[in-house]
Amino acid sequence: MTSKKLLFARTYEKEAGEKIPSGQRPVLHLSPYTGWTNDPNGFSYYGGKYHLFYQYNPFSTYWDSMHWGHAVSDDMLHWEYLPAAMAPDTDIDSFGCFSGSAVTMKDGRQLLMYTGVRKENNGGQGEIQTQCIATGDGLDYEKYEFNPVLDGNDLPNGLSRNDFRDPKIWQEADGSYKCVAGTCNSDRLGRILMFSSPDGFSWKFESVLAENDGTFGLMWECPDYFTLDGKSVLITSPQDMLPQGFEYHNGNGTLCLIGTYDDKEKKFHREKDQSVDYGIDFYAPQTALAPDGRRIMIGWLQNWDTCSLIDRKDMRWFGQMSIPRELSIRNGRLYQTPVRELELCRSGRVEYNGVTVNGDLSLTGINGRVADIELVLRPKDPENIYQKFTVRFAQNDRYYTSLSFRPAESVVKIDRKFSGPRRAYVHQRRCHIPESRGEVKLRLILDRYSAEVFINDGEYTMSCTILTDTSADMISFHSVGEAVMDITKYDLASEE
Ligand code: FRU
Repeated sequence: MTSKKLLFARTYEKEAGEKIPSGQRPVLHLSPYTGWTNDPNGFSYYGGKYHLFYQYNPFSTYWDSMHWGHAVSDDMLHWEYLPAAMAPDTDIDSFGCFSGSAVTMKDGRQLLMYTGVRKENNGGQGEIQTQCIATGDGLDYEKYEFNPVLDGNDLPNGLSRNDFRDPKIWQEADGSYKCVAGTCNSDRLGRILMFSSPDGFSWKFESVLAENDGTFGLMWECPDYFTLDGKSVLITSPQDMLPQGFEYHNGNGTLCLIGTYDDKEKKFHREKDQSVDYGIDFYAPQTALAPDGRRIMIGWLQNWDTCSLIDRKDMRWFGQMSIPRELSIRNGRLYQTPVRELELCRSGRVEYNGVTVNGDLSLTGINGRVADIELVLRPKDPENIYQKFTVRFAQNDRYYTSLSFRPAESVVKIDRKFSGPRRAYVHQRRCHIPESRGEVKLRLILDRYSAEVFINDGEYTMSCTILTDTSADMISFHSVGEAVMDITKYDLASEE
């Protein structure tokens, strides 16, 4: 039975969503049907399609009363909106259906596992966060009558019932299920817990899979745990991070821990750590397994600290997802490359090879706001390496966003301070790459309101949103000292 609340949201979003012209949305990045989105949820392959749910407030462009929005796609790039999947319509989730994940059950149903949030003592300040289940057919979902399936009583002593959220579920080879969820101790230090279930409905605590010793922020949100290229990988989004040199930045961050799993203790042991993304806007990523075995990750292309400062009086949607990224582990690092399906969206190839840049340069045919650009740079004279190379994009007479590289410091910088905002939120971030002697490979994906940069075949990524009017579509280059550039640009627009 569809509740009144869900029916209301579905009716509302249809009318409001259809009023947003497709020209005002990103082309290949999922944006909410209408209103607000934050985390990607329930990213999965089910019934022959990719499903992506999302934290959703259809009624305004600000966070409130979390629903689950829903979209499906054949290629993870062109999304079709489906009716909202869940509304906060039961006692257990009356304050919101927070983040969660999806899995296909043995009987063919899709199971959604999410955090049901309610206020303490009917309307108090604190939140009670519990894990809940809904099952469905890819369109309509029914919440399990015995929700929650995990609550404070399932937690080891001393861990928080108020911060206990974001279950990521997967199926084991024997058909049983496991999930990880985040919580924290009384110092707000994150704990990732693992639970198991024979059927997806009855769950029990297994272990504290990983603990934050204070190195990586405080509470850990949105954990994801999987094996990749023979390693155990734990991705999570810590709150209240502090920078460590060029690694990590203040505020809400992303963390990838690579290590091994100890079967006896049921514990993860970290060997390496890194940021997932070194740009400005990337948070709460979640992965799915594609039918062909690829591990694919999508993140929320925003950051919480900036959100409240962004003026959005002219917008009827806010928040978008990243381009889906194929993951691999190489040389102990997480590599990310845009899903290969993106290559099928390319058209209008423009290519220049061996162009010397010294001072300002623009090139005929190199422009656009929905584009896939590959840039390979090297010094003209390896004994006299250029000092700084910059590509400006989303540019008009007044505004631009830039990506620059300083070989002597090995630093790539993304900078949107001249992109038009009048507020002083974070406008630039830097990423330190291994010593390169002036050689670097950059891939830049532009999709109207965002830029995602993949450095050296995905060894580092930097993402940010840009709000410059989409008519600003010039691209130009600048070098201090002689750099040589090979560039290939494709349009990605699949305008209907
Ligand atoms: C992360 C997060 C999650 C929570 C959701 C609520 O961005 O805070 O931990 O489930 O957003 O919308």
